Amino acid sequence: MVIRQFEGKEHASDYQKFRFDTSQEIIDLIFSYVDERLHKPYGFAVDVGCGTGQNTRILSPYFKKVLGMDISEAQIEEAKKATGSPNVTYSVCPAEEMSVGDASVDLLTSSIAAHWFNIEKFLKEVDRILKPGGCLAIFTFLPGMEVHYKDCSEQMTQVYAEVEDILIRYEHEKIQHIRNGYKELYESIPYTDKRRIENIETKIRMPLARLLGFIQTSPMYPIYLETKPEEAKEMMRTVEERFLQLMGTSSSETEVEMWLQNVLVLASKPQ
Ligand SMILES: C[S@@+](CC[C@H](N)C(=O)[O-])C[C@H]1O[C@@H](n2cnc3c(N)ncnc32)[C@H](O)[C@@H]1O
Repeated sequence: MVIRQFEGKEHASDYQKFRFDTSQEIIDLIFSYVDERLHKPYGFAVDVGCGTGQNTRILSPYFKKVLGMDISEAQIEEAKKATGSPNVTYSVCPAEEMSVGDASVDLLTSSIAAHWFNIEKFLKEVDRILKPGGCLAIFTFLPGMEVHYKDCSEQMTQVYAEVEDILIRYEHEKIQHIRNGYKELYESIPYTDKRRIENIETKIRMPLARLLGFIQTSPMYPIYLETKPEEAKEMMRTVEERFLQLMGTSSSETEVEMWLQNVLVLASKPQ
């Protein structure tokens, strides 16, 4: 059964505003792997479960053609609205049945999305569409982020952890794949040339307002909001208040730094 947690138009537009671009650390790891296996100029990349296209657009300078695919019409509609390069296109389609020709893809990426897929069917599709020698790069950040601000990082991180503890009650079982650092996914890849890189730390500076928006783009928040609307809104109000108080400011535009741990799975189809 296909899981649909990203269908709302409002959720998709928040996604566009608040989610992060792929970090330079991850891009560098992907391309040092790809550079050793493929010949330039690179032809065709696909980004699966692309959401509003943050990771898709990043691929555009490296490839002649990039296609972002997502099962959610609302997400693809938002992706198409964003300014992008002419070599990037988008399509509504499931990861388990991609609208792409056999042996046509040089690089397939999937950012913070593969845990939602039917892994067995997805990996069969990956094998069908990758060229011989083509590469796969699947990554996500993990729960347990740190929030840093001057000398109150520990308390800020504690507030964030309390939010995660509330939202976890609404967590889909598929999130367990993330908690396991994509181990099962990695083990299911039928290629011998593969690696799983853990403990990739990325640090992202953002206004506090963006961090609060990011919390609301979690797939759990809309469920919380639907189940207990007043409690969910109250949580957001209280969290903002507590952050501001710790930071000693009244402006949500004040910047904080988020520290995230990421995992990246790389693989290459045999020649
Ligand atoms: C957490 S979002 C990640 C979006 C984006 N890649 C990013 O880095 O922010 C997960 C995305 O996976 C999509 N998705 C979930 N199941 C899918 C499936 N079976 N096939 C294709 N996309 C799927 C959702 O619609 C959603 O847009």
